[in-house]
Amino acid sequence: MDIFSVMKERKSTRAFLDKPVSRDDIEEIFTYASMAPSAINLQPWEFVITYGEEKDRLITRLKKVHAEQKVSCGPGTAKPLQEKFAGRSRKVLEIMKPHIFKLGLTFNKFIEEGSCSFYGAPVAIIVTIDRVFPQIRYLDIGLCVSYLLLAAHAKGLATCPIGLITAYEDDIADVLNISKEKEIVLSIALGYADEESSANAFKTDREELSKILSWYE
Ligand SMILES: Cc1cc2nc3c(=O)[nH]c(=O)nc-3n(C[C@H](O)[C@H](O)[C@H](O)COP(=O)(O)O)c2cc1C
Repeated sequence: MDIFSVMKERKSTRAFLDKPVSRDDIEEIFTYASMAPSAINLQPWEFVITYGEEKDRLITRLKKVHAEQKVSCGPGTAKPLQEKFAGRSRKVLEIMKPHIFKLGLTFNKFIEEGSCSFYGAPVAIIVTIDRVFPQIRYLDIGLCVSYLLLAAHAKGLATCPIGLITAYEDDIADVLNISKEKEIVLSIALGYADEESSANAFKTDREELSKILSWYE
């Protein structure tokens, strides 16, 4: 599959088959992810991969803490978003709504329940960065995660980046024995897509280029 097809086809997957992913396949996609560029080749990314009973232990804890704290999803900005950004998140909601409705969930329930259970994905990946790094190094992490999502898609695997559960960082660190020196910045659900599920029956769109590019000639 050529790179442009992979980029065009990849999408976030929120329902997975109950089918294990081999360790060889996981290692292969990480081999490609680690080829991402980083400032002075620092490669500041580190990942914790969990599946099987350990992942189940994590999910049990996340469900418990979520029932207590009920963190909801939002842009996480200090000030209200400009309309051009807010409109995009409303549009996602419109695209998802009919499909989520079929699952009998509200949007928030869909995102929250799914985020806590990693959408039943067989593999959960926790993305970390050492706290020694300044926030600008999140850029490098983002590049590596992009490579990972694309490599997974090229191998026939599906993913969903999940930011919501980073609110439960202490619990994740506790269950998976992650050092306090590491910051948990993202999690990623990985597995084989359940193509029949309504949760995967939509594709988000993108802004026209004229809205995001400024030219000076
Ligand atoms: C940093 C980050 C955090 C995200 N967090 C969540 C999440 O908590 N729950 C969720 O369902 N999707 C999450 N997503 C997926 C986005 O909703 C998705 O990427 C966006 O709607 C565009 O759709 P696409 O990935 O299918 O192209 C996240 C994506 C990114 C990049």
